[in-house]
Amino acid sequence: MTFVRSLPPRDTMLAGIDAAARLPEHDRPGAVAAAIQAFAADPALLEGLDCPCCPDRYVRHLLHSDPAGGYAVVALVWRPGQMSPVHAHRTWCAFAVHHGALTETYYSQDEGDLPVPAATKLLMRGEGSHGPADPALIHRLANLSCRTAISIHCYGVAFDRFGQDVNEIHAA
Ligand SMILES: [Fe+2]
Repeated sequence: MTFVRSLPPRDTMLAGIDAAARLPEHDRPGAVAAAIQAFAADPALLEGLDCPCCPDRYVRHLLHSDPAGGYAVVALVWRPGQMSPVHAHRTWCAFAVHHGALTETYYSQDEGDLPVPAATKLLMRGEGSHGPADPALIHRLANLSCRTAISIHCYGVAFDRFGQDVNEIHAA
């Protein structure tokens, strides 16, 4: 008798991300976002992992780093009221909400002016967004809810380059 054991959802998601991250660069953000969104709402996605929050700021927990340094996958944990800076991305990115809800605000910017809010959308569990490296694509993620939120993100650089090569910050 043959038993077929399916992989845990996190392993299946990471395999999908790995395949998507090897597509031509133009196709990567959308394909990686689809790979994340397919599993983001699964309650067992982070089973067995300890992903604590921090009272001071949202925190990143590394889920997978591509050995070749082409991308890294992290879980971000947001307490109520915590938010990202207003930022654009120096690399492609994709994410989806795993637990709770996040608010994403997009900004427009005229030359020489500071970015101003242009649109906001509420992202519930399983919903997400993606984009290429684009200094004009400015946004901020925030947890405006009353409970901790968790989102899954993939960026097109190695984890040890996140500090300098992911966010181009306009306002903290
Ligand atoms: Fe971002």
